[in-house]
Amino acid sequence: CCHSNIVHLLASKPKGSSSIRCQSTSTNQQKTKRNLFDNASNLLTNLLSGGNLGSMPLAEGAHGAVYKLAFGPKAFVVVSDPIVARHILRENAFSYDKGVLADILEPIMGKGLIPADLDTWKQRRRVIAPGFHSLYLEAMVKVFTDCSERTVSKFEKLLEGEHSRGGSAIELDLEAEFSSLALDIIGLGVFNYDFGSVTKESPVIKAVYGTLFEAEHRSTFYIPYWKIPLARWIVPRQRKFYKDLKVINDCLDGLIRNAKETRQDTYKVAVVGLRKLHVATLEMPKYHSLETDVEKLQQRDYLNIKDASLLRFLVDMRGSDVDDTQLRDDLMTMLIAGHETTAAVLTWAVFLLAQNPSKIRKAQAEIDAVLGQEKPTYESLKNCSRYIRVIVAESLRLYPQPPLLIRRALKPDLLPGGYKGDKEGYPIPTGTDIFISVYNLHRSPHFWDRPHEFEPERFLEQRKSIDIEGWNGFDPSRSPGALYPNEVVSDFAFLGFGGGPRKCVGDQFAVMESTVGLVMLLQKFDVELKGPPESVELVTGATIHTKNGLWCKLTKRSNVH
Ligand code: HEM
Repeated sequence: CCHSNIVHLLASKPKGSSSIRCQSTSTNQQKTKRNLFDNASNLLTNLLSGGNLGSMPLAEGAHGAVYKLAFGPKAFVVVSDPIVARHILRENAFSYDKGVLADILEPIMGKGLIPADLDTWKQRRRVIAPGFHSLYLEAMVKVFTDCSERTVSKFEKLLEGEHSRGGSAIELDLEAEFSSLALDIIGLGVFNYDFGSVTKESPVIKAVYGTLFEAEHRSTFYIPYWKIPLARWIVPRQRKFYKDLKVINDCLDGLIRNAKETRQDTYKVAVVGLRKLHVATLEMPKYHSLETDVEKLQQRDYLNIKDASLLRFLVDMRGSDVDDTQLRDDLMTMLIAGHETTAAVLTWAVFLLAQNPSKIRKAQAEIDAVLGQEKPTYESLKNCSRYIRVIVAESLRLYPQPPLLIRRALKPDLLPGGYKGDKEGYPIPTGTDIFISVYNLHRSPHFWDRPHEFEPERFLEQRKSIDIEGWNGFDPSRSPGALYPNEVVSDFAFLGFGGGPRKCVGDQFAVMESTVGLVMLLQKFDVELKGPPESVELVTGATIHTKNGLWCKLTKRSNVH
């Protein structure tokens, strides 16, 4: 067995062994090692998200579906297997916390849902999850359409200007545009604050981007340099970071104060609303619905309310049981979790669509048939935007956000052998850091036909049954009426929004938001990439984004019906 001073790439477990064993170093592995350490700052993401974004081979093929990476005394286990992922995320979820991720995010998100310890998480998830009830989502669709309209109008004006100069297309960095759009939406949806970033700049917007940038930077650094004593006073970027954080915190504190001062104790109880809310609450997975006190969730006339935000919900419905710091952590977490992820999904969806004009036309045909030039509504989204919704899912399959899920074992565990491991499984000592490489899993040829190709239709077709022991294959009947092809339908082969109790709390919000964004763009415009697809370089951090923007050519749609 070949030992390197720096790293052991430990591949799929040989038969008859109960530990993850070292395997000889192949040329591919040597290449991988070189790449791993070429850029130490990309360690956590570019490497462990599969170690293969860009030109590197699939870790799944090269190193097995469960393998261990060791850096001196420190070892990480990388998982690209739905059976093992299911075990970690759902079956034994409470034996793990967020480990490295919590270390990185705690200074920013405090005890928000993402980094929270299990006790805090149990309390807060129960309070926050009901906030995403169906009437809230219905009210949010209006926010999505209003904000998307601002973006589309901006493009239309630019295009008119271009037409008057005799041109027919505008060139835009759509990644930047989607980032502004997603920021405006999340600000309104979470705390009814209009960043207005599609049309203007402000100190708060700058601070949000500064903080996101630092979060991203930290997620690509293995050494937590920000924990070095006095770093926050001495290191200039740390000083800037804390200044940015203060700007946002002051803004959030003001919003919380305002929400508490205007707390509404009496609600207009709409019977139909209550019924809908009841259904939405009961539909939620049992770990929060069982303990949710449905009767307490009085209902307002959500569609006519001025402020339908989650903050309003948390203060009005649950006002007395939370302190301001926790509330601020919750808001900050949702601001960050819901911003870049959605912007990235829209970016990669357009990147993929722009290379497939026939799929753009197919999407436009669906839009024309359902909406014509009307704006989407909650009902039309749920019932009629099937093709656009699978475009969103397929974009998330190819470019998962985040590309890896991070866990640390709180107690010893035995991972199942997985689809090609042996029956004994993999022992995991307490403290082991685990990275579920969603990127690899989503591109594994064992679970996906033509895994690297953009084929949204794959989610609409009846899947051939793949006979893998312990994996239940694709079966839409496991999640009837699901808004998107989820982890239940795919038995953890699709983890676009994670799975198990710590699954994304904003999944439906995000799917509807992305669908509205795409619908309203494709309703009016045709999109092409400005340069060749290869010129759009990938950078991985907390999300996968481009190095220099997604530069596209936008023209007025030629085939409007
Ligand atoms: C968690 C993806 C949008 C709030 C997660 C997780 C994933 C994910 C994969 C699980 C992380 C893990 O298991 O470690 C996405 C994607 C989005 C999106 C791809 C957009 C397309 C949103 C939005 C919100 C949100 C819009 C809020 C409004 C959260 C929160 C968690 C989470 C609070 C932590 C949940 C918990 O631990 O209980 N997200 N998300 N996300 N997401 Fe999202």
